[in-house]
Amino acid sequence: MSKQILVDTIKQLFAGNKGLLAIDESNATCNKRFAVLGIPQTLEMRRKYRELLITTPGLNASVGGIILYDETIHQQTGKGIPFTDLLQDEGIIIGIKVDTGTKPLAGFHDEKITEGLDGLRDRLTAYKKLGVKFAKWRAVFSIGEARPSLGCIKANANALARYAALCQESGIVPVVEPEIVMAGKHSIERCYEVTEQVLKLLFQVLYDYKVDLEGMILKPNMVISGNDSAVQNTVEEVARATTQCLLSSVPASVPAIAFLSGGQSPEQASAHLKAIHTLFKNRLPWTVTFSFGRAIQQPALRVWQGQQANDTAAQVLLYRQASLDPTALQGAHDSKNQYALIQ
Ligand code: 13P
Repeated sequence: MSKQILVDTIKQLFAGNKGLLAIDESNATCNKRFAVLGIPQTLEMRRKYRELLITTPGLNASVGGIILYDETIHQQTGKGIPFTDLLQDEGIIIGIKVDTGTKPLAGFHDEKITEGLDGLRDRLTAYKKLGVKFAKWRAVFSIGEARPSLGCIKANANALARYAALCQESGIVPVVEPEIVMAGKHSIERCYEVTEQVLKLLFQVLYDYKVDLEGMILKPNMVISGNDSAVQNTVEEVARATTQCLLSSVPASVPAIAFLSGGQSPEQASAHLKAIHTLFKNRLPWTVTFSFGRAIQQPALRVWQGQQANDTAAQVLLYRQASLDPTALQGAHDSKNQYALIQ
């Protein structure tokens, strides 16, 4: 498969300071978010919600690609228009989550392995026929005293690399997502250490499995303290730690880094992205952008409540939230504004 296809897709996805919108929650995760708001957890409500998101007027100004879930990619609007046609008409590139979720990693206490490699080559071929140009696979690591273990990091890095190689073989851009989750009391320093360790090992394995780094997107967490940590750092500290950590572990040949939001509020996630650009823009060898799920959807879902009467209000909020993130990418270019990474 020609490398140029991968390179072109990546360029198109992020042209004009755009990013990605992740609406690929599994049914279980989507239902969990609906349950909190008292929204019925049915196939039809999930379809209605995804239709609302996808048909938001003007979304294509800030979002270059949308990541769908398998259930969603086969669905249509209430008027019978396939979601895939609608996205293509809007010039939004179609992405798909292809991992099948996490399972306990046998022999490792409290650690997970992401599954979905069996039959992946055939699934990618089928998705390609539906217009898919990029895919996502999420590995998840939690921080604890002895976590993540080397065994868990290696197992997930192997799966990510095999997935990425299969995507590239099919001409589909792999979004490689090793997420260190925010749950816990850990410090920003510990998050830095773990993120760096995971990324360094991951890139070694991607190299071993002959993944072309110029034809992939990295979707990492930001470097931030745990949700339950007593110390919550400033926006500038998070931006500095994140930038420093990525510079030390991500090769410059990777064309784009698109952050997950990981449970940060929409305001926090946008502020951190903006600070990375404002403070360190001239240090970044990659396109640095967003691939947020909750940090774009949350305000819209809260207002929607599953009621058609709230559709417009929810779309206004989705549009507004998604528009904030490209603005964040226009951080100052003046090198005099840049802080030293290590002080
Ligand atoms: P969040 O931005 O809600 O973390 O979701 C992004 C994502 O795609 C997780 O896999």
